[in-house]
Amino acid sequence: MRRFHSGSDFRRAHSVAELAAMARRRLPNFAWEYLEGGAEEEVTLRRNRQAFSEIGLLPQTLVACHETHTRRSIFGASIPLPMIIGPTGYNGMLHRDADLHLARAATKRGLPFTLSTVSTSSLEQIVAAVPEVNLWFQLYCLRDPRVQTDLLQRADAVGCKTLLLTSDAVLLGNREWDKRNFVKPRHLSLRNKFDVLRHPRWFKQAVWPHGLPILANVERYLPADQRTIEGAAHFIGAQMDTGLDWEALARLRDSWPHQLVLKGVLHPADAEKAVALGLDGLVVSNHGGRQLDGAPASIDCLPAIAAVAKGKLTLLLDSGVRRGTDILKACALGADAVLLGRATLYGVAVGGEAGAGHALDLLAQELRLALALLGKPDLDQLDRLDLHVTSNSPFSMSRTDE
Ligand SMILES: Cc1cc2nc3c(=O)[nH]c(=O)nc-3n(C[C@H](O)[C@H](O)[C@H](O)COP(=O)(O)O)c2cc1C
Repeated sequence: MRRFHSGSDFRRAHSVAELAAMARRRLPNFAWEYLEGGAEEEVTLRRNRQAFSEIGLLPQTLVACHETHTRRSIFGASIPLPMIIGPTGYNGMLHRDADLHLARAATKRGLPFTLSTVSTSSLEQIVAAVPEVNLWFQLYCLRDPRVQTDLLQRADAVGCKTLLLTSDAVLLGNREWDKRNFVKPRHLSLRNKFDVLRHPRWFKQAVWPHGLPILANVERYLPADQRTIEGAAHFIGAQMDTGLDWEALARLRDSWPHQLVLKGVLHPADAEKAVALGLDGLVVSNHGGRQLDGAPASIDCLPAIAAVAKGKLTLLLDSGVRRGTDILKACALGADAVLLGRATLYGVAVGGEAGAGHALDLLAQELRLALALLGKPDLDQLDRLDLHVTSNSPFSMSRTDE
């Protein structure tokens, strides 16, 4: 039976799940649902966790484990753990300056931080506040080429060397909680307004005294009289380029001079195309179950994608990573590193930078311990034979294939 610490001191959380339980209590319902919710029946959201739990681990014994090796080289940077903070938009709803807190927590631990297009701190603010950040930028393909070009020039100008193009969200998934919580865009229902009154700590950490922040990266592209949350949300909605296709990605490949990563790949045929296009990496991702409900768990798609892309580009994975053992499983199946979405958001929601750092530290400790207990203290030595699979598991073929 799982028992959770019931206080509010995030430092006493023993797991990401405990941080999530604290965040649930700290946040008003609409903000919690924004963080936690998935699309429609949330089948994919649940599957992400279920799939990780169905992969077993097969330990070897009598292996000395004085120290573990978890370092990875990702796009020329040696990082101490196979973890990157992934892009999440509108983080300022959880905590004032949440993007800065996440960037600081990652940077202090030598890990990259990815800023979303729809972030609440701008590219320039992040670099000014955290100059040594290994900053990745996530791009939503926008209809207006002047806006997109300007965003890319700004990313380049602040020293960002890794661009993630998100391809699975040109249309927003059907998130019913979002429709329920707002009577019209960005206007909370009466019930949710009362709920806000019941969460004074959140109100103080996120809203008081300036109100919720707007989308800092795109603010400058809005007409002066529309620089509000409503204006920014409307702008982004109208700007999402539904014409995004492989040709558009090829043009981006030609124009972006640094690493280009495609985020939102589940099909091995798409991984093959990404390799053929000369991309530097891809993220096996279903957007944390927030887009197409019914899509498979990312971890279930990894083996087939690794079969066609491993060694040809950098393989990243996200969706459902909450434990060090999840990271271990992803690496054993071919991922070079994982992106963290909600795991660090829970932390930032309850403790700002220190809370996000606590989530990272918990995952790092769990990963190191699991490697030692598995009898594989060197992450680079992991492979599929370290996993315990049943005959009907999607990975069972991998054991005989080898
Ligand atoms: C609150 C929230 C906001 C997100 N915003 C973005 C975004 O702006 N851009 C993007 O590419 N992905 C976004 N994502 C998806 C994440 O990058 C990532 O794919 C997902 O969170 C991984 O699943 P997990 O949170 O279960 O680990 C968002 C996810 C969440 C939970």
